[in-house]
Amino acid sequence: MAMYDKGKPYVMHEEPGLQTYCSCGLTEEAPYCDGSHNGKHTGKRPYLVKVEAERIVSICGCGRSAKLPYCDGTHKSR
Ligand code: FES
Repeated sequence: MAMYDKGKPYVMHEEPGLQTYCSCGLTEEAPYCDGSHNGKHTGKRPYLVKVEAERIVSICGCGRSAKLPYCDGTHKSR
């Protein structure tokens, strides 16, 4: 299943540090980037997020959020 076919968020426990989330939807390690975009000419680059403190987040799994890589609830409006 491609990352954005999930249709609902990935609820994640984020650790402090640099997180790299997929933006092209091709990753096999969703929601993290696994480098699958390399050589595919997607025109997309992964989202790099500097996490300051441990937290629970919802990463978009539908690709329609206005606040990518995070879910903004848009998936509920299908
Ligand atoms: S999963 Fe995409 S907006 Fe919620």
